[in-house]
Amino acid sequence: MTETIRLGVNIDHVATLRNARGGVHPDPLTVAKAAVAAGADGITIHLREDRRHIRDEDAERIRAWNGAPVNLEMAATDEMTEIACRLKPHAVCIVPEKREEITTEGGLDVVRHRATLTLIIARLNAAGIRVSLFIDPEPAQVRASAEVGAAVVELHTGAYAHDKPGELEHLAAAARLTAELGLECHAGHGLTFANVGPVAALKQVRELNIGHYLIGEALLTGLPAAIREMRRLMLQARVR
Ligand code: PXP
Repeated sequence: MTETIRLGVNIDHVATLRNARGGVHPDPLTVAKAAVAAGADGITIHLREDRRHIRDEDAERIRAWNGAPVNLEMAATDEMTEIACRLKPHAVCIVPEKREEITTEGGLDVVRHRATLTLIIARLNAAGIRVSLFIDPEPAQVRASAEVGAAVVELHTGAYAHDKPGELEHLAAAARLTAELGLECHAGHGLTFANVGPVAALKQVRELNIGHYLIGEALLTGLPAAIREMRRLMLQARVR
């Protein structure tokens, strides 16, 4: 029997939209609740060093709600490790972070940062947090992830999503290797309705984390209802 696959919904861009006006709408916690009500298995948030979307109070409120497993994406820094140890999310996914990037552009270089990652993973594990490393689908990175004590790897699907030839095969081989090494395999980045199928079909992949496309698609599916409601309220106000 094929094991089930979970969907983690990344709500960073709800915060991006909220921050564009500096107010409180749309509220990431309210959207997290709606996502879980619609079938999301977990909520993923990335607390970036520059707090460009999710902010500390969002992370606190979403964690305090306790309505779904929270996967906290973070850079391998002391500040973030301290926050994670205090918040105690269900899981932490360590990602590389560069200030100038638009989104997480490449996987973590675990081979190069073995020593730092070993220490941070040990601190997170001691706080009872399961740690995932966001890596490119390269065998050396998968092996190094097992060596530094990660329980999970999340394979970066960005190159696959950009139609790079051979990327599905790389993902499939990396997924097989994670299972051989006893790691759980997740995947994410740039996944859409059009390209999710072949990745979801990889039997070792147990979770997909998807954000930007879902939030964009939600505009198309949700805008008609929002417009109808606004028109209804406008017309109702004119009835005397
Ligand atoms: N997984 C990780 C580790 C990420 O950094 C991101 C982007 O924040 C995603 C998944 C989701 O990517 P997308 O927003 O392109 O679906």
